[in-house]
Amino acid sequence: MSVLTIETAPIEGQKPGTSGLRKKTREFMGRHYLENFVAAIFAATGGLAGKTLVLGGDGRYFNDRAAQVILRMAAAEGARRVIVGQGAILSTPAASNLIRQRRTDGGIILSASHNPGGPDADFGVKFNTPNGGPAPEEVTNRIHAETLRLSSYRILEAQDVDLSRPGISRLGGMEVEVVDPVADYRALMERLFDFPAIAAMIARGFRLRFDAMHAVTGPYARAILEGALGAPEGSVVNATPLPDFGGGHPDPNPVWARPLVDLVMGPDAPDFAAASDGDGDRNMILGRGLYVTPSDSLAVLAANARLAPGYAGGLKGVARSMPTSAAVDRVAAALGIPCHETPTGWKFFGNLLDAGLATICGEESFGTGSDHVREKDGLWAVLMWLNILAARGEGVAAVMAGHWRRFGRNYYARHDYEALDPARAGAMMAALRDRLPQLAGGEAAGRRIEAADEFAYTDPVDGARSEGQGIRIRLEGGGRIVLRLSGTGTEGATLRVYLEQAEARPDRLDLDPAAVLAPLAAAAEALAGIRAHTGRAAPDVTT
Ligand code: G1P
Ligand code: ZN
Repeated sequence: MSVLTIETAPIEGQKPGTSGLRKKTREFMGRHYLENFVAAIFAATGGLAGKTLVLGGDGRYFNDRAAQVILRMAAAEGARRVIVGQGAILSTPAASNLIRQRRTDGGIILSASHNPGGPDADFGVKFNTPNGGPAPEEVTNRIHAETLRLSSYRILEAQDVDLSRPGISRLGGMEVEVVDPVADYRALMERLFDFPAIAAMIARGFRLRFDAMHAVTGPYARAILEGALGAPEGSVVNATPLPDFGGGHPDPNPVWARPLVDLVMGPDAPDFAAASDGDGDRNMILGRGLYVTPSDSLAVLAANARLAPGYAGGLKGVARSMPTSAAVDRVAAALGIPCHETPTGWKFFGNLLDAGLATICGEESFGTGSDHVREKDGLWAVLMWLNILAARGEGVAAVMAGHWRRFGRNYYARHDYEALDPARAGAMMAALRDRLPQLAGGEAAGRRIEAADEFAYTDPVDGARSEGQGIRIRLEGGGRIVLRLSGTGTEGATLRVYLEQAEARPDRLDLDPAAVLAPLAAAAEALAGIRAHTGRAAPDVTT
């Protein structure tokens, strides 16, 4: 087996976004594309000689081929060992767990998360650091810089490694250790949650449905929910991971997981339903007749965490991304613990978790997690909910009603305008940004504007500064509008408009969220001129 040095040239646009590098699959499959980016990761992190990495992905189209290429490149760079999930499969939280448990030098996750998979859909590559979390901006900036100065990469000339069975084999001088993707993760969940109490609740007839959306969590959910906890076979649906996710959009929200929402709103609703995304880090929580917003879910988990054995000692703090609702802030205030507000993207939670400043984190985008790993974790959230329901002996609706009575309710919605012309979307944001200093004191859709600014963040641990993290406008009476452009899209620009209305009056806790938020939507339009700038009269996706 010989090491080949392949000449290449920089490829434009290999700049990691909110979560790794995401592009069209065909672009990733293009000449040198994957190889260049992987070589840049290795170069930007001090080379691979003697190192151990974790490697796995969500099983989407090209996952298997990409894994073989990365193994040959790692071998050529002198890596000591690569730990690979069987079949090159690992959910994102399971990968994060392995990186930590095995004290490796980091890992590479092949995923474009909730974006569709297939030759004409999306692919992605993400580097995680030794703490198990997504590389921070300082590292992704270095990776991008390397992509712009690359002139060659090295790769071993070799056959494919057999990844179909657990065990250890060699690739050149490197060890390839194939592991069961589920085992370590399941053991971790058993340590954190009261499995006997959940199993007893299920044995008493509590009905649950988990939709794996033909993505990576199928095997995890089967092993844990049906295997360890005794939910009847068939409780986990769409459980076989498929390279194109069955042609669907593996995003657990009311739009893309519509059948699950219809189920809980219908006559044969189970007590609890949940779904997770392509790589298993997102979750959606539903009760009978009820959709729980991710921001509310975060608040409920924080308020009730002590009921789970892994969190019985209480929380050191909580953290949420800026666009996430302030529901969890009230819980933190009641518990007397700090609440941190970070920019969008899980990578900003890493330092807080490492430094012991936060135990539970979450984002409005269906992401919740804790310091058990350094990624958000879909099944973790599901098990935490089940643990809470078992311990309280209450259903989802009762838990939510009690929560709102105690803490008040933050009505919330996100409106996404997708595939916009990037220049026009950028111009809209720029125009609004220019007007920010004059907005406070003025009016929008009949309401007074209390404050308007652009969010910037200084990491309390390493002092890193992140500017331009979203425009936020606070309206009198507890209203807030946030606008930002997505950092994960692969087609044009995506505008996200986040609407929130805080409400504490006891007789106003059970209203229609869309009706409560309509004045805020009107205010967003009046302030930003979305229609005039983008040509769109309505959002493509509302969650
Ligand atoms: C989106 C979500 C963000 C999440 C990220 C990765 O990023 O909004 O909360 O961390 O996906 O799952 P965006 O496209 O908004 O940049
Ligand atoms: Zn994901």
